[in-house]
Amino acid sequence: MSKDRLLEAKVALITGASRGIGLAIARSLAAMGAKLGLCARDPGRLIGVAAEFERHGVPVLAVPADVSRPGDIASLVQKTEQSLGPIEILVNNAGIGVFGPIQEASEANWDAVLDTNLKSVFLLSRAVAPGMIARRGGHIVNIVSLAGKNAFAGGSIYCASKWGLLGLTECMAEDLRTHGIRVSAVCPGSVATDFSLHGNKDPQKMLQPEDVAHAVAMILTQAPQSFISEVLLRPTQKP
Ligand SMILES: NC(=O)c1ccc[n+]([C@@H]2O[C@H](COP(=O)([O-])OP(=O)(O)OC[C@H]3O[C@@H](n4cnc5c(N)ncnc54)[C@H](OP(=O)(O)O)[C@@H]3O)[C@@H](O)[C@H]2O)c1
Repeated sequence: MSKDRLLEAKVALITGASRGIGLAIARSLAAMGAKLGLCARDPGRLIGVAAEFERHGVPVLAVPADVSRPGDIASLVQKTEQSLGPIEILVNNAGIGVFGPIQEASEANWDAVLDTNLKSVFLLSRAVAPGMIARRGGHIVNIVSLAGKNAFAGGSIYCASKWGLLGLTECMAEDLRTHGIRVSAVCPGSVATDFSLHGNKDPQKMLQPEDVAHAVAMILTQAPQSFISEVLLRPTQKP
């Protein structure tokens, strides 16, 4: 097998894969031979992305799904496994941000961010874990953020979701490591995507989606007797 095709025929489910970091991860895993299950809410953009992969001969299933809805998660996992096979790699990437001072935030803001960034990871991981346990192997990679470690004004809801996600990731890693399942967190600083306004940061100097994809590929190709539990990713030059 080519060294580049280390994930040949492995089934990877990537959430939030229609643009930004999720799309870069999908491209990277496809180049390594993985079969792709992809989801996002906007079907138009997602179908366009899937068509791109199909043109390059990559086995792909695109499922429009909102990961903040438990029903969508159940059918996403079921459809992916029916069409592609057992999920061996789960990349929990879908995420949203709502930023502003706590006194102006609504309960709806809290629910939207926490359901998307945190509860969905619990539900998706819980859905794939039994199969991974039965097969004695698998990877779950959670795209967290340096906002899961650092506080900043206006970040209360987003930081709460990502601090929680880091705790969830570390505990899942402990629950699942004895079953041969490796659970990892990737915590990037600001990445040049549509995700949020980047103020006066130079997008050329910011982390690129491909930098995060590279970290995910590194985690997925780690030798089997160990696992990379956490990656903190920063740009070389301060943007
Ligand atoms: N960009 C940064 O500076 C940065 C830094 C650190 C960590 N992160 C994290 O990295 C992840 C990806 O961020 P990004 O910058 O690539 O964001 P992005 O460019 O806004 O892309 C987000 C992706 O997630 C999908 N998505 C959003 N909500 C969803 C939902 N409820 N259900 C399913 N799909 C959903 C979006 O598609 P639809 O809108 O069609 O659903 C899109 O494909 C997030 O978890 C984010 O918190 C980002």
